Amino acid sequence: MEIQDLLTTQSIGYPFIFLESIDSTNRIAHDLAEQGMPEGCVICADHQTNGHGRQGRSWFSPQGKNLYVSLILAPQKHTMHISQLSLVVGMAIADTLQRYVDDSKKVGVKWPNDIWINNKKCCGILCEIVNAGDIAKHRLIVGFGININLERAELPPEIKDISTSLFIEIGELTYLSREIILAQILQNIETYYHRWLEHGLADFNEEWESRSVLNGRTITVETPSETFQAEVIGLNPDGSLQVKDKKGHHRSITAGDVHITQY
Ligand code: BTN
Repeated sequence: MEIQDLLTTQSIGYPFIFLESIDSTNRIAHDLAEQGMPEGCVICADHQTNGHGRQGRSWFSPQGKNLYVSLILAPQKHTMHISQLSLVVGMAIADTLQRYVDDSKKVGVKWPNDIWINNKKCCGILCEIVNAGDIAKHRLIVGFGININLERAELPPEIKDISTSLFIEIGELTYLSREIILAQILQNIETYYHRWLEHGLADFNEEWESRSVLNGRTITVETPSETFQAEVIGLNPDGSLQVKDKKGHHRSITAGDVHITQY
């Protein structure tokens, strides 16, 4: 992948490491971060043999079709705040993808870090922290997989009904340039990252709420310790999800998975 000539960023994408095939770009980014690779490094692969997602799931990573990318960041903020960056990166990706999709099909964000088009997932984000607790040494690995040119018939049966791609949603007959889309995403990530460093997550609240596919919905919340139904209120200033459970109690969800049970 030749992206250097397309990059408009100051630091994100330097160095840019492209690999034909790798087990997982997050795995190699993790190793590089531990070895002290500086902020901005991007690892991108054409194919992953062991791409993984949240909650131990695997990430479908066929060759030549999609984007599989991991970025190393080293924000000088307390470790407890840095997971907010998955929401910020999600917004940067969603805003970029919206440029390609008709406004009638809103590109949505689903807490904590999925991107949906037309009620189906087209991007997942997996963040991992390296050297947690040490501001000088901690690194955040932000890995994202975006279904770009995948055709409907290529989706494996187990994700066929819940996944989509940019190509499917645009309904075009020609493939999209993954290089151009990635260069635009990296520029957006850089801009939003600096906004977050300066103003915090609160600066994104309104935009995030307007893209959220969960607001007002009834969801099933699965945390490591319990499963319950709740109505979504919105995003809290710290990035957790504010919900109201069946007894009317307001609760903040910081970790876990959520599924829409009622529209
Ligand atoms: C999810 O939705 O569960 C997150 C999926 C994240 C997939 C990406 S693809 C690039 C990077 N490398 C991985 O192994 N995972 C992430």
